[in-house]
Amino acid sequence: MVQNLVNKIGRDAYKKFDDIKTVPIGSTMAKPSFTVGKDGEAKLGPLFIMEKMTNGFNADTANWRYAAILPGGNTMGVTKATNSAGVTFCHECHVSGEDNDYLLLAPEEYRVK
Ligand code: HEC
Repeated sequence: MVQNLVNKIGRDAYKKFDDIKTVPIGSTMAKPSFTVGKDGEAKLGPLFIMEKMTNGFNADTANWRYAAILPGGNTMGVTKATNSAGVTFCHECHVSGEDNDYLLLAPEEYRVK
């Protein structure tokens, strides 16, 4: 289970969903996750973060900084910082959202109206 959250800088752009085109520098999307086991117990999953950095930050990711934080707080990886190679797969998948500045968006039936 995931939730997609956005800060004030990116809010107006992110709300356009399939008509985003570009988001302002400083836009930050955070996606906490959890799973529920057969026993009904909830368990924390990774926290996924995308931050739109200034031009020149990283051409390979269209200036997005990806970060993944493991349950418990250890950093799995951060673009151009800790274990950057470990998060290159993020943009490889997000590249399919190039019309919306590489955001992939919650499926329509789960969006807050
Ligand atoms: C296999 C494809 C895939 C990979 C790999 C992937 N994502 Fe995503 N990501 C998605 C999809 C699909 C969505 C939209 C649906 C959702 O939120 O689950 C999404 C949504 C997001 C969002 C919410 C903003 C948005 O795009 O709407 C963030 C933040 C995010 N991903 C971060 C990451 C990070 C960080 C990584 C690498 C650690 C990563 N993603 C790897 C497919 C992927």
